[in-house]
Amino acid sequence: MAVFLTRLASIAAISLTLLESSLARPTTLQYAKVLQRAEQVKEEYDYVIVGAGTAGLTVADRLSEDGKYSVLVIEYCHLISDEVILAGGGRSFSDPGIRYNITSIPQEDMANRRQQVLIGCCVGGSSAINGMVMVRGTAIEYDGWAELGGPGSTWNWDGILPYFKKAIHFNPPNEDLAEAFNITWDPNAWGQEAKTHIHASFPTYQNPALIPMYKAMSKMPGMVIPKDGAGGKSGLFWFPTSMDPVKFWRSYSRTGHYDNITRDNYEVITLHKVQKILFDGTTATGVQFATRDGNSTVQTVKARKEVIISAGTVHTPQILQLSGIGPKALLDEANIPVLLNIPGVGQNFQDHAYLSVGYSWSNGTPPVPVVEANGDRSTVAGPNLGAWIGLPVITPEWEDIVSRYEAQDPAQFLPANSDPTIVAGYAAFQKLHVKLLRDRDTNLLWYPLQGMPGGIVMSMHVVSHGTINIDPANPNAEPIVDYRALSNPVDLDIMAANIEFMRKYMNSSDFAPYGPRETFPGTSVTGEALREWIRQNLIPTNFHPIATAAKKPLEMGGVVGEDLRVHGTERLSVVDGSIMPLLPGANTQSTVYMLAEKAVDLIKARQ
Ligand SMILES: Cc1cc2nc3c(=O)[nH]c(=O)nc-3n(C[C@H](O)[C@H](O)[C@H](O)COP(=O)(O)OP(=O)(O)OC[C@H]3O[C@@H](n4cnc5c(N)ncnc54)[C@H](O)[C@@H]3O)c2cc1C
Ligand SMILES: *[C@@H]1O[C@H](CO)[C@@H](O)[C@H](O)[C@H]1NC(C)=O
Ligand SMILES: *[C@@H]1O[C@H](CO)[C@@H](O)[C@H](O)[C@H]1NC(C)=O
Ligand SMILES: *[C@@H]1O[C@H](CO)[C@@H](O)[C@H](O)[C@H]1NC(C)=O
Ligand SMILES: *[C@@H]1O[C@H](CO)[C@@H](O)[C@H](O)[C@H]1NC(C)=O
Ligand SMILES: *[C@@H]1O[C@H](CO)[C@@H](O)[C@H](O)[C@H]1NC(C)=O
Repeated sequence: MAVFLTRLASIAAISLTLLESSLARPTTLQYAKVLQRAEQVKEEYDYVIVGAGTAGLTVADRLSEDGKYSVLVIEYCHLISDEVILAGGGRSFSDPGIRYNITSIPQEDMANRRQQVLIGCCVGGSSAINGMVMVRGTAIEYDGWAELGGPGSTWNWDGILPYFKKAIHFNPPNEDLAEAFNITWDPNAWGQEAKTHIHASFPTYQNPALIPMYKAMSKMPGMVIPKDGAGGKSGLFWFPTSMDPVKFWRSYSRTGHYDNITRDNYEVITLHKVQKILFDGTTATGVQFATRDGNSTVQTVKARKEVIISAGTVHTPQILQLSGIGPKALLDEANIPVLLNIPGVGQNFQDHAYLSVGYSWSNGTPPVPVVEANGDRSTVAGPNLGAWIGLPVITPEWEDIVSRYEAQDPAQFLPANSDPTIVAGYAAFQKLHVKLLRDRDTNLLWYPLQGMPGGIVMSMHVVSHGTINIDPANPNAEPIVDYRALSNPVDLDIMAANIEFMRKYMNSSDFAPYGPRETFPGTSVTGEALREWIRQNLIPTNFHPIATAAKKPLEMGGVVGEDLRVHGTERLSVVDGSIMPLLPGANTQSTVYMLAEKAVDLIKARQ
């Protein structure tokens, strides 16, 4: 428990002023009709969506928007109108009432520590509890999605940018604030559609203590300052928060795609668990669901057009596996009849990883400039300034790390007996990743700037791939989450380089007069000792799990095709974080909104 609390403290640190802020008190929201009893569910809908989370509500809203199609969303968790959610308060990270209670298995290369797996459990899913950072990855990273998808893929930067613009409504900072803090943005990369209610906005306040930190970072060798990160480049930049531009409340899938929408053709039932997908041959016809504890009579509902699984990276592979779609050996062990042997279901699992490095000033603090324009502190819900950096800028030894990775046998650090398609997929990932590592426009490190020294270093790309599978002994219980963190030693090399980069930054001449001192682990901890410290302290997740139903060809260990339909099936697709084949070097929510918007066009196009 103590360990977990320490971790929560680090998480809270990411959100900086989050805990201090007490945003304007939200009032009760209106919301669409919510069903709670299975008897209220009709026999048939055009679309049945599993999970009322970030992607699920986006897809449900857009598919029901013109009144042509009926949509049912089935959600395991409850609809909770809690002002703490809207205020972005720290409680949302730790309250068992709004998150799942899942812990990873012990991580061998992390001194056998386990990790709490945080995902949201309420209508809105993880967007209801996240840190509200609104960023996207770089162009070359998404071009990698297309490369892994194969020739003709439209999931490259040019093919997805219109959906980022559609998914998120950008609201610029107020002029005084922008001027005082040099906040710039790229208007060509953002959208402002009137019908889009997922907002990216700025608080009215920034901490002036950020200014000396910004200056020192801007002088780091190789550092660039793009207008912002939305245009697909790495560097030092300001970024918005997912919040309402007027009320400064959390803007999430519920406020954007559910609240205030009253349509007869859009229904949500809460507190029910989808147990499996129903098939006629390999054509999905509906789903089977029951109350959470399974005590009610099992119900079924039919989908005339399509079943869409949006249960998130942790539960989507479970639902597929329980439906007989997954690695054959695992299904056999669990006594589940195999409908389709798709080895990639639950594999390829990736997440961002981070560490806190302690610093203090031993000789005063850098002077904080007086800033005229300063609004209301309580409008700040999270960090708005960060450095997103490629490996060639992080360390002069970048080529050594890349060559070491390039020389690896693709199967060497995968689970023993991995299916040949998983190995082939990893080989393609490795080849792509070598290219990404050599490119300064890949976000390898995210360092959120704060008004104080030290802080958090985040590895935004990992080469160790994990698994999320059903427990064959208890398939309906929570799945077994295995990050396999640091199983590939190159992840240790990269994290060590990230820490050394922060040390160089803290050693900037601008800071010298104030005597920056590393309190933990301490600058004498280097080389193998630093690697050991990383094993003891790494948090293998920044709560951005992806890839357990990756969009890749079947023969490359993929689960869904370019149109997000599950390989080998009809009328069954996956739309959520699990389809990302490769991490964007950015927190994942805007990418999830983007891919959900693109999915809607793909789904509509096949009707
Ligand atoms: C603590 C935390 C902090 C984060 N911070 C940030 C951040 O600052 N910025 C950022 O960009 N991203 C952040 N993220 C990540 C981001 O929120 C997620 O990537 C994104 O919300 C995932 O969306 P999703 O649709 O894939 O899954 P979710 O939004 O998690 O939705 C899945 C839904 O499916 C439901 N479900 C699951 N199984 C079943 C079943 N069997 N039957 C019925 N329903 C089911 C779940 O209850 C849930 O509602 C954070 C995430 C967390 C958890
Ligand atoms: C979480 O699960 C563990 C067992 O896995 C259990 O001991 C604990 O009580 C649960 N916590 C909550 C809040 O349900
Ligand atoms: C803003 O940019 C100008 C010119 O590049 C620079 O002189 C100034 O210090 C910057 N201000 C802040 C707050 O970073
Ligand atoms: C819902 O409608 C009410 C009344 O018009 C409004 O005050 C509120 O802001 C709306 N909520 C959302 C999330 O749009
Ligand atoms: C069945 O499950 C529901 C939802 O979890 C619960 O509210 C109800 O009390 C349960 N009924 C019985 C008889 O256990
Ligand atoms: C810090 O700077 C000093 C002086 O410029 C230099 O001698 C030292 O090697 C630097 N240390 C690190 C860790 O970069």
